[in-house]
Amino acid sequence: MIMKHFDKLQGEVTVPGDKSISHRSIMLGSLAKGTTEVTGFLQGADCLSSISCFQKMGIEINNNPETNTVLIHGKGLRGLSAPSDILDVGNSGTTTRLMSGILAAQPFTSTVDGDSSIRKRPMGRIMTPLSMMGAKFESLATDKCAPFKIIGGNLQGIHYDSPVASAQVKSAILLAGLYADGQTSVTEPALSRNHTELMFESFGVDIKSVGTTATVTPAKELIAQKIEVPGDISSAAYFIVAGLITPNSEITIKNVGINPTRDGILTVCKNMGADITLSNVKDDIGEPVADITVRTSSLHGCTIEGDIIPKLIDEIPVIAIMAAFANGTTIIKDAQELKVKESNRIDVMVNNLSAMGVDIEGTEDGMVIRGGKALHSATIDSKLDHRIAMSFAIAGGLADGDTEILGAECVNISYPSFYSDLDMLTR
Ligand code: S3P
Repeated sequence: MIMKHFDKLQGEVTVPGDKSISHRSIMLGSLAKGTTEVTGFLQGADCLSSISCFQKMGIEINNNPETNTVLIHGKGLRGLSAPSDILDVGNSGTTTRLMSGILAAQPFTSTVDGDSSIRKRPMGRIMTPLSMMGAKFESLATDKCAPFKIIGGNLQGIHYDSPVASAQVKSAILLAGLYADGQTSVTEPALSRNHTELMFESFGVDIKSVGTTATVTPAKELIAQKIEVPGDISSAAYFIVAGLITPNSEITIKNVGINPTRDGILTVCKNMGADITLSNVKDDIGEPVADITVRTSSLHGCTIEGDIIPKLIDEIPVIAIMAAFANGTTIIKDAQELKVKESNRIDVMVNNLSAMGVDIEGTEDGMVIRGGKALHSATIDSKLDHRIAMSFAIAGGLADGDTEILGAECVNISYPSFYSDLDMLTR
């Protein structure tokens, strides 16, 4: 796809539902007794993978893509049946890891597989703790990647000191902990997103969080709920950055989830000198939401490191674009997790931003960007990573000349209407 150049962005946009919360709504809805109604569900390919996996385990799930409403007819904590086929997770790491926590406790064996990107992503990080709880894994590939078999069974509660600040690892363990014979707790090196903990609470699960430790008590039964999914701050991030770096711009992004474990990008924008304001802040559905307004700003570089990294991990590609447009140097550290996302996001950002003339250097755990120079057009290889494609759609719209994005359609993973929403703001 060739990116159209834009010289101003104006207007309001409502981004689709939060990906993390949408996945969790399918999983907990499937394990609850009764009908869970989800509104604002993200119709991205990743979340559709979660739906189809649980349908394969006998759960009736009615998705209405016109209204983004999903009805999940849960059969209770022990209501899943053995899938007759491979559970195909597509491109979705969240489906793979969170569902594995549930599969670990089932009285059946299942096989999990996905696309070529999923087959490269590390699964040892969930296999280790879930094996400690009593599940058995058979890797059908090398290096503890998909495809793999999970032989579920009776689990014991554990305490796990996780080596990574990963909500997918934490959530897999907590989901397995619903079925264990005693309490299960996970301590992380830094706090990752807490959507599982919040949703456990609304489904009536006994869950406690103290600092970076979350502890779950095995559940008897979960009760069906109504879930309103807020807009995804990771999708809003493209418009936040676009509005700040495009001349003569003002954009309001409506109804965005601003959970404090996800709002690192807002802090970084402020630290870089952004004109960004929140309005209509509401906190009555378990997950806080707000409208976010951004205006063209003169930005300066900053250092991003430490505990804030898990709070903005998925936004780093577009933060790197923002840094390229900021004056001075931006240093991103402690973000080695970027190497094991849908693509190696350190390498892919360095290669593509360098191709546009940006002074950028990759490091072991991040990147250094010396910003402030005009970008020129280039051919961008998205590596079929949705967040890379969307980040360069913004950079390409501001570069001189035509920027072509290869594999641009991969935005379907998390934001199917991304290009038309962006286009609407250019008019
Ligand atoms: C997610 C957690 C993060 C994030 C991913 C979604 C989740 O992954 O990058 O897009 O929904 O729990 P990690 O837990 O691997 O950091």
